[in-house]
Amino acid sequence: MPGAALAAPIAGPLLAWFQQNKRLLPFRQEPSAYHIWVSEIMLQQTRVAAALPYYERFIRELPDPAALAACGPDTLRKLWQGLGYYNRAANMQKAAVIVCEKYGGALPADYAALRALPGIGDYTAGAIASIAFGIPAPAVDGNVLRVFARLYDDSADITQPATKAAFTERVAAEMPKDTPGPYNEALMELGALVCVPGAPRCDACPLRALCRAHAAGTAAALPVKPPKAPRPTLPVTVALIKSERGLLLQRRPAKGLLAGLWQPAAFEAALDKARLTAALADLGVPAVLTAPLPAAKHIFTHRVWALGGWRGTAPAVPLPEGFVWADPAAYPIPSAFSAYLPPKGPENP
Ligand code: ADE
Repeated sequence: MPGAALAAPIAGPLLAWFQQNKRLLPFRQEPSAYHIWVSEIMLQQTRVAAALPYYERFIRELPDPAALAACGPDTLRKLWQGLGYYNRAANMQKAAVIVCEKYGGALPADYAALRALPGIGDYTAGAIASIAFGIPAPAVDGNVLRVFARLYDDSADITQPATKAAFTERVAAEMPKDTPGPYNEALMELGALVCVPGAPRCDACPLRALCRAHAAGTAAALPVKPPKAPRPTLPVTVALIKSERGLLLQRRPAKGLLAGLWQPAAFEAALDKARLTAALADLGVPAVLTAPLPAAKHIFTHRVWALGGWRGTAPAVPLPEGFVWADPAAYPIPSAFSAYLPPKGPENP
């Protein structure tokens, strides 16, 4: 780092390529600040193809910041269910309330004001500012870091803030000030479609002639990231208990992982049949466990759940606070439990 400037500016060939090759995405057809915001938050955690049905439904149900600000928590959970990281939806709602109170219901056309809203970091503020408002701010996500690591054949660790800052300066230096939105989106699109992780499609790349990693044959090995610390694996024992009034469901705590969502009764420990029966009896549920559940795994960013448990039956006894007998289809149940309860989403309502 930082390395000499490239042989020529990238904007010309990049924008020409983008014009020809960009995907027709709904948030590109109507690039309002709200549409860009919702799409960028969803795309931080989900691939474009998987996010699209969620995006379409979200915009249909909550077409503007006022609707998002006014939406009830259960509706919001349902619209987000299947995308994961519910905090992001909760932060968007907090930001929508501020947008309504402070900015008359429209996202502000100002980088610093966007950046100050809950859940909007450097990347999202840059994406909204540039794509929706034409403000020349960089929007550097993982795709863009990869493109720049390769363009400059730079093996600095992209997880280091100093590397990200140096790359961001290069992104800004190459930015045509009259078309910052298309430039930022073109970089993301190039990273998503051509300059992909692992084996890049250099034959299809408009920047091949300028790319130092292509010349050096190092593109596939870039960008450099340190190996991730292994995630701890935690056992979770699930009890799928049916009564004549439905399945035994439990609300998760209001804070922390999967906050406020619902799940089949579950215990964060590896319980055998006898101990699971006893744990259910402690809740006042005299369950008879009839069949083991298959082992399953769910990977979160910071941990892995090793799931197992039992099916069983019980009389519909009264339940403690936070537990219900109910039809799970009517409750937001996270996909971590999809091995036992089929997930719901816009395509599988
Ligand atoms: N990934 C995240 N945001 C994107 C965008 N606006 N275009 C293409 N890929 C993206």
